Amino acid sequence: MASSMLVFTALAVVSTPFVALVFWNYGLPLLFRIISQTVGITLGWYLRRKTDGRRALILRITEDNEKIFQEKNSSQHSGGSSNNSLRDWETIEGGVSVGTAQNGEKGEQDWDGIVAFFHPFCNAGGGGERVLWAAIRATQKRWPKARCVVYTGDHEVTKEKMLSRVENTFSIHIHPPTITFLYLSTRHWVLPSTWPHVTLLGQSLGSLILGWDAFSLLVPDIFIDTMGYAFVLGLSKMLFPDMPTGAYVHYPTISTDMLDSLDPSTSVGGQGVNAGKGVGAKGMAKRNYWKAFAAIYSWMGASVDAVMTNSTWTQGHIKKLWGPRREARKKDHPIAVVYPPCAVRELEAQIPVDEANEERREKVLVYIAQFRPEKNHTLILNAFAEFVASGGEASKDAKLVLVGSVRDDADSKRVYQLRLLVNELHIKDQVIFQLNASWPDILQWLSKAYVGVNGMWNEHFGIGVVEYQAAGLICVVHDSGGPKIDIVTEVDGEPTGFHATTSTEFAEGFEKALSLPDPLSVRRRARISATRFTEEEFARKWLAQMEYLVALKKSNS
Ligand SMILES: *[C@@H]1O[C@H](CO)[C@@H](O)[C@H](O)[C@H]1NC(C)=O
Ligand SMILES: *[C@@H]1O[C@H](CO)[C@@H](O)[C@H](O)[C@H]1NC(C)=O
Ligand SMILES: *[C@@H]1O[C@H](CO)[C@@H](O)[C@H](O)[C@H]1NC(C)=O
Ligand SMILES: *[C@@H]1O[C@H](CO)[C@@H](O)[C@H](O)[C@H]1NC(C)=O
Ligand SMILES: *[C@@H]1O[C@H](CO)[C@@H](O)[C@H](O)[C@H]1NC(C)=O
Repeated sequence: MASSMLVFTALAVVSTPFVALVFWNYGLPLLFRIISQTVGITLGWYLRRKTDGRRALILRITEDNEKIFQEKNSSQHSGGSSNNSLRDWETIEGGVSVGTAQNGEKGEQDWDGIVAFFHPFCNAGGGGERVLWAAIRATQKRWPKARCVVYTGDHEVTKEKMLSRVENTFSIHIHPPTITFLYLSTRHWVLPSTWPHVTLLGQSLGSLILGWDAFSLLVPDIFIDTMGYAFVLGLSKMLFPDMPTGAYVHYPTISTDMLDSLDPSTSVGGQGVNAGKGVGAKGMAKRNYWKAFAAIYSWMGASVDAVMTNSTWTQGHIKKLWGPRREARKKDHPIAVVYPPCAVRELEAQIPVDEANEERREKVLVYIAQFRPEKNHTLILNAFAEFVASGGEASKDAKLVLVGSVRDDADSKRVYQLRLLVNELHIKDQVIFQLNASWPDILQWLSKAYVGVNGMWNEHFGIGVVEYQAAGLICVVHDSGGPKIDIVTEVDGEPTGFHATTSTEFAEGFEKALSLPDPLSVRRRARISATRFTEEEFARKWLAQMEYLVALKKSNS
């Protein structure tokens, strides 16, 4: 029964956009809508009924856990300090001022619904997981009574292990009683290896199965995808039209660059791995496949109530893909950029930006990047050589430090070639390779260097550049991508660094950065600029979206 229903749903969901198109053309949108809504709502009703028991269980267990947790804590800290721990929890919570809260008043904290996070690979320990845990923590603090649920496929990891790993890897402390993990059994459907040929579409169809799996475990009050499974969000809207949905998008599943790259007549047509493949019959087929996929992707994405992206770059792509349909569906809540949390506060605590440290800074330009071709170390070495050859006062004893990890033979080979280039350019005495640097080493360089460099074209974001700013370095970065639009921007109408494209422009940038009359004021501005990427800022922006979803939930029920 369940499996046939599953196949039926998958087919229904995928064919909906096409059927919609046909019906639209024949002027029968209303009939179609009634049929699809009836099917969706019926299935949704079936799922709700099926999972009612588990829902009650989760509510009861979290309540019991919370009681046990509080009792344990007060017996551990008998006399006075038990109060402290509770008060701490509340202070942090009140520290975040958000959304509907007016004139410093806190919004209601008593919302006690279930927020589910769809993150099948939540034990991965990467940047996407940091976002997930920071989001859950912020949500817990804002609504202490809310229950957070994570759908995961990591069967072998218990809740205790998961939370202690989160604590160790990200130093994020999740309040254990109100979080529950629900284990998905169909994760293999979204692995690329399951779909060797039509990976894009295959994985997305697979995610529908995974989504069905999730909703058969529990139907939450608010559903949020943090891994980019737009199809699951589409599915949830079909099954439960009243359930608010949110998406945190790191990367569009298909980007407009990708579509353009097949077309040799566009500006990016000559670049990338797919360059020129858009010609001939095979190219035609591929283009149509991508176009059709993009159409379904936009249809799914347009159903989402609150959309967040991790950078302006991603926002641009998502706006292009989902925007028009969102407008048509009257989803007018704007697509927000919510930058992921970076290690800004730690750098602030470790590295002072003041007169005393200004004395200690040396004429060092630091470039922290893996030794990958797109990081374009060659460009930076050429620029540095030009800068040295110019013979200006600033260039005397200036040093360039290349900090990066060497993970494999290809990396070592590139480092070797860079060393050859350094010799050729006669700047051997002024260039330092700092390979496989530890975090304390990196902190050392960030605290004594003068300038932070980034040479990559069209980097989507650039966490390294945020770290330069947090450390008070004067940035000289590529005039494109995230470093240009998101990070090295003006503060109070004054620059926080320099942008450059050619090696000559970079050389000029180094010259300017090293001969500023008042470097300390630029460093201070850079540091202010970096506060846009702190954990608090992430929490504030995240909660503004959550606030919207909770309000939507309240008005729907
Ligand atoms: C907790 O703090 C309140 C006032 O803040 C005080 O009246 C109460 O006695 C304290 N309880 C304990 C167990 O210390
Ligand atoms: C009780 O609260 C304190 C202070 O926040 C915390 O350090 C401690 O770990 C808590 N106790 C338990 C059992 O979690
Ligand atoms: C957004 O996510 C993508 C994919 O994981 C990543 O490459 C990019 O650096 C992220 N942006 C930020 C601001 O972290
Ligand atoms: C490095 O930068 C130079 C100058 O802008 C450019 O011509 C070259 O294509 C870049 N190389 C890579 C690998 O991006
Ligand atoms: C850097 O670390 C990798 C493995 O982590 C190792 O293979 C390599 O030899 C190291 N390189 C240097 C220069 O220490």
